[in-house]
Amino acid sequence: MSNASNLAAALDFSGKHVFIAGGGSGINLAIGEAFARQGARVVLVSRTKERIEAAAAGLRALGAEALGLSADVRDAEAIRAALATAHETFGPIDVLISGAAGNFLAPAAGMSANGFRTVIDIDLNGTFHVLRGAHEFLRKPGAAVLNISAPQAFNPTPYQAHVCAAKAGIDMLTRVLAMEWGAEGIRINSLVPGPIGDTEGLRRLAPSAEALKVMEQTVPLRRLGNTDEIANMATVLCSPLASFVTGAVLTVDGGSSLLGGRDYTDAYAASQRARAQ
Ligand code: COA
Ligand code: NAP
Repeated sequence: MSNASNLAAALDFSGKHVFIAGGGSGINLAIGEAFARQGARVVLVSRTKERIEAAAAGLRALGAEALGLSADVRDAEAIRAALATAHETFGPIDVLISGAAGNFLAPAAGMSANGFRTVIDIDLNGTFHVLRGAHEFLRKPGAAVLNISAPQAFNPTPYQAHVCAAKAGIDMLTRVLAMEWGAEGIRINSLVPGPIGDTEGLRRLAPSAEALKVMEQTVPLRRLGNTDEIANMATVLCSPLASFVTGAVLTVDGGSSLLGGRDYTDAYAASQRARAQ
């Protein structure tokens, strides 16, 4: 067999079960679409029933088997129930993606305890609920788990204390569970997207055309990324091509995080003006 056909076979997810928490929109939905195009059966989960059902219908329109379930990752029982339904429907989970997240710009001294807790609850506790709840349903050996992290995990970034703390915690969970679950043949990695065009995440951090331009110009590759570029790397990391990769935190960011934490002072002022309206 040629090397090219070996590569194609490794990226063939026909019949594989892919479960995506936070899969209703943006980067995570693009990951779902990429797996669907490679033949996977995909379960998408997020809070908004109409949105998640429409997202799953979109995957079915691509020819995939797909299910949309509504659950909040902050609710461990609801997430476990969604995982159990997914397991009953499509069998053991081959690929688990945890990407639900929330973000807003706020200085720590101006952030309420509930504001801080909300982001920790969605991003960090939510990721624990997804991974802990999935453990009994994962294919062993063979499952691949991918946490969607962010550069704030390792770049201290003003106005992002909640996200920095949450995403750093996620990357540490990645490393610890890679050690705890490695013997069962489960791989766990973090993927760190850079600024990705036309996403809710970026709209919150670069809310004007001017802010987007600055963002673009400071990326070493001089452009924003797109959701397909994240989805491509997600499929590779969860495929046999990455069979010896676990506990890794991989940036897919055009070199953006090499700059360190960004300055969101103007973006914060703009978000405050919008909030006041
Ligand atoms: N600045 C300061 N505090 C804010 C804020 C802002 N821009 N937006 C929300 N908060 C605070 C709220 O005031 C509240 O605290 P309080 O009770 O002390 O007033 C707390 O955060 C929770 O807000 P609430 O709107 O009740 O939370 P929610 O659970 O409905 O929504 C969010 C969670 C706030 C993260 C919401 O933005 C969300 O659902 N985001 C998902 C989409 C997203 O962020 N995508 C980008 C991913 S990177
Ligand atoms: P997005 O479109 O807002 O995606 C977040 C998804 O999570 C939505 O589908 C949302 O759907 C769901 N969600 C939010 N809170 C939830 C909860 N409590 N329970 C269940 N689902 C929940 O944002 P995005 O920009 O594509 O970001 C996706 C991921 O990439 C996030 O982890 C983010 O931190 C990361 N990231 C993004 C960028 C970027 O440039 N966009 C850069 C670095 C990292 P509902 O609202 O319907 O629940």
